[in-house]
Parts: sequence; structure tokens; C-alpha cells
Amino acid sequence: MDLGATPIGIFDSGYGGLTVMRSIVDRLPQYDYVYFGDNARTPYGNRSFETVYEFTRESVFHLFDMGCELVILACNTASAKALRTIQQQDLPRMASGKRVLGVIRPTTELIGQLTHSGQVGVLATNGTVNSASYVIEAGRFFPHVEVHQQACPMWVPLVENNELDGAGTEYFVQRSVEQLMEQDPRIDAIILGCTHYPLLEPVIRRFLPPHIHLLSQGPVVAERLDDYLERHPDMAGRCSKTGKRTFFTTDDPASFNRHATIFFGESVASHHFSL
Ligand code: DGL
Repeated sequence: MDLGATPIGIFDSGYGGLTVMRSIVDRLPQYDYVYFGDNARTPYGNRSFETVYEFTRESVFHLFDMGCELVILACNTASAKALRTIQQQDLPRMASGKRVLGVIRPTTELIGQLTHSGQVGVLATNGTVNSASYVIEAGRFFPHVEVHQQACPMWVPLVENNELDGAGTEYFVQRSVEQLMEQDPRIDAIILGCTHYPLLEPVIRRFLPPHIHLLSQGPVVAERLDDYLERHPDMAGRCSKTGKRTFFTTDDPASFNRHATIFFGESVASHHFSL
């Protein structure tokens, strides 16, 4: 399906990537964007490496078919489990010249500057935690920083079901936050390592001392994308700029539109994409 333009593609397993897209669109409103939410197969967080890779690669190539030259994996699980293979194996073989970027590296590039104690926390899905991507990436940039990870398997389902507050949500948020802080009470910077989690930020804050820096990815990824496009004027020139935004979901568009109001902060009219 060719959209007749060269939009920047934004992919997530569901709605979470819309929080990143919000920041990107606010920072770079001139570009065209197409969002692809694989809602029919979400969540990815507990799935195997092989499955997340297959689903992500398939979605990225649908975005290429729509005309995208540049795709952002606005999903930590996909960035952790699929990005490297797509970049190193699939692009050179099948789509040379196109680019796929993730959300983990931009976040880890920053984290060493935010901690004074050298103890950093990551809240993420099982998949991201098991991949150890944050530990590995942070080790490259900031070898003196120690990364403590906590999987929060209940958080994505809560967010996807719009359970953003209330006693049930508080219970699961408090439990995971305490499990992280028990690993090292000196933790003073925490990465929300899942694009769904910024929607839970007010509840997460309730269970953390105020001095702790909580890092949401949207603004960081938007800033890094801006920088990338400045450093790659050929790619910036190839991306179309009419300010158009298109949304596809592999599940029900009516439900996507309802959720998008919360995640993206404005109403959208999405289209169904048949897998
Ligand atoms: N939003 C995705 C992430 O950032 C994960 C959601 C899911 O488990 O599908 O990790």
C-alpha cells in the first residue's frame, strides 16, 4: 500500500508508541508520519525473541511498502529483540538505503549524566529485561554505572485496558517499584523502559522519593531524531514534509481511535491493516 509520500514510520506493538510519536510530532511537525500499531498481536513483552523479531520485521516491511525510508521502533521490546538483526541482516539484503532506529540507545546515551550515585534502575517488560539490552548498552557508554532491572509484566495490560489509576493499578505499580528499589536503595535515576509506561508516571511517582529522576523516552527520542536528521541531510531530504499523519492498526480502528485520544492526546481516524 503506497501512501504516495515518504512519511517517517513509527512502529509499536500497540498504543505505547503513540507517546513517543506525540513528542516527535511536537518537535518535528513539518514531516509526514505513519504509525503502525500491531494491536492484534500485542503485547510483545512476554513473547520469544524469534516471535518478536518476526512480528517486528513484518511490520517494518509493511511500513517500507507504504513508502517509508526511515522507521522508528517506538517499542523497547522490539528494539531489544529485533532491531540489531533487522539492521545487520535484513536491511543490507532487502532494503539497503532504508534505516530503522530504536529507542534504547538514545535513552542509555543520557542516563549516565542523570545519576549521581552511579546506580540506575530500568522498569521494562520481561522481554526487554531478559535481553539485558539496557545493561549492555549502558555498559558501553558508562562503564562505572550499575543498571538494576525490574520486569513489570502487568503494566502493559493495565495501560492497554486504560486502567491508568485506582487501587488495582496502584497495587501492581507499587509492587514493581518496590522490587526495583529493594535491589539498591541508592538508585537515583530510573528509565521507563517501555513506551506504555509514561501513562503510569503519576502513579509511579507516588511510590518514589522525590529526588529520583524518572526518564520518559518520548522527548529523548524526539531530540535524537532531530539530531539524526540534521546529521543525515540526504535522509531528511528524502522524507516528505506536508505535516500529514496516518494511523494503521492491525486490530479494530474504533478501539484504536478511542485509545489514541489518551496516548496521543488528540483524536485520530485510523485504518485497519490486514495482516
Ligand atoms: N510498548 C512496548 C515497549 O516499549 C511493549 C509493549 C508490549 O509488551 O507489547 O516495550
